Amino acid sequence: MDKKSVLLITGGVAIVLALFVSIAVDHPFPDFYTRPAVVGPEAAPHGEGEVEMYASEAVAAESAAPAEPEEPKSPYAGAVAAADDAAFPKTIALKTEAYPEHTKPIVAFSHAKHVVDYMTGCGDCHHNEDGEPLDDLQVGDDAAKCIDCHTKPSEPPKGKDAPDLSDVEEREYHAEALHQNCKNCHMTYNKENNTRAAPTSCSKCHAK
Ligand code: HEC
Ligand code: HEC
Ligand code: HEC
Ligand code: HEC
Repeated sequence: MDKKSVLLITGGVAIVLALFVSIAVDHPFPDFYTRPAVVGPEAAPHGEGEVEMYASEAVAAESAAPAEPEEPKSPYAGAVAAADDAAFPKTIALKTEAYPEHTKPIVAFSHAKHVVDYMTGCGDCHHNEDGEPLDDLQVGDDAAKCIDCHTKPSEPPKGKDAPDLSDVEEREYHAEALHQNCKNCHMTYNKENNTRAAPTSCSKCHAK
């Protein structure tokens, strides 16, 4: 091949390349593939409309989504929070003066938590002289002490010489009445909720 032919071929190739590059610059490759099938004046509004549609769908989906399950709230929560300890003692050291002595560590009873967090009602623990629950008791009302009616200090006598007492006679003993009230609810609660959160063992209540 002579010098002239080489120059001609090289020049030709260069022109073809230059043409190709100029087309490529005008129509970058991605454009060929991503350009919408339908073009024209309606193409842009259609695109915006799509965004709007997605946005409104998202709003619709959000409002259709089930609301966060609301924590059940005690009807006494506000009143308990506002009350001072004279109106509603929040924690009670269950130490009964009538007892000759306490042989077990004193129970620190979370009165406010029981009402506010554990959702127990006043009538679950407080009742009248007939034993009927005081469901209408309000924060700030007076409440009689358990010992006022369950008058015998401490636990019923035990052992083989112990008298055979009826249930009601046993509950004349203060500690028996307390144990039944506290433990019965705890056992029922634990069973129903398949948990051990409510204490039933001595040392969990009589904590050092
Ligand atoms: C759910 C909580 C709870 C549990 C569990 C519990 N107690 Fe008590 N106990 C009490 C309360 C409340 C009193 C009353 C204290 C007071 O008001 O003076 C009490 C009183 C007593 C008393 C009389 C007071 C004293 O200190 O001598 C004895 C004895 C006693 N408990 C023993 C036990 C034993 C033993 C167990 C385990 C088998 C136990 N208790 C489990 C809450 C509990
Ligand atoms: C889970 C049981 C429980 C619940 C629920 C409960 N209490 Fe009590 N409350 C007690 C115990 C136990 C005492 C101590 C009583 C004692 O010392 O003899 C007490 C003491 C009190 C006292 C102080 C009594 C005194 O003179 O020392 C008041 C007032 C009172 N409760 C009001 C209420 C009100 C109002 C509610 C409902 C909003 C309520 N309680 C719910 C168990 C409960
Ligand atoms: C005004 C008197 C009175 C006061 C105050 C009182 N009780 Fe009673 N309680 C009774 C009578 C009456 C009964 C029914 C007789 C029985 O079943 O022992 C009873 C029954 C019970 C019972 C068995 C029935 C039931 O509801 O489970 C328990 C447990 C009990 N009381 C615990 C308590 C506790 C704990 C307190 C203090 C927060 C308390 N009582 C305060 C009079 C009283
Ligand atoms: C009507 C039901 C009910 C009664 C009555 C009751 N409790 Fe409870 N208690 C609960 C529940 C429910 C829990 C645990 C909730 C949880 O943690 O999920 C609990 C938890 C506790 C706890 C552990 C957590 C804490 O707050 O310290 C102690 C201690 C306790 N109770 C003591 C007592 C004593 C003492 C009594 C009796 C004077 C009593 N309870 C009466 C329902 C009750």
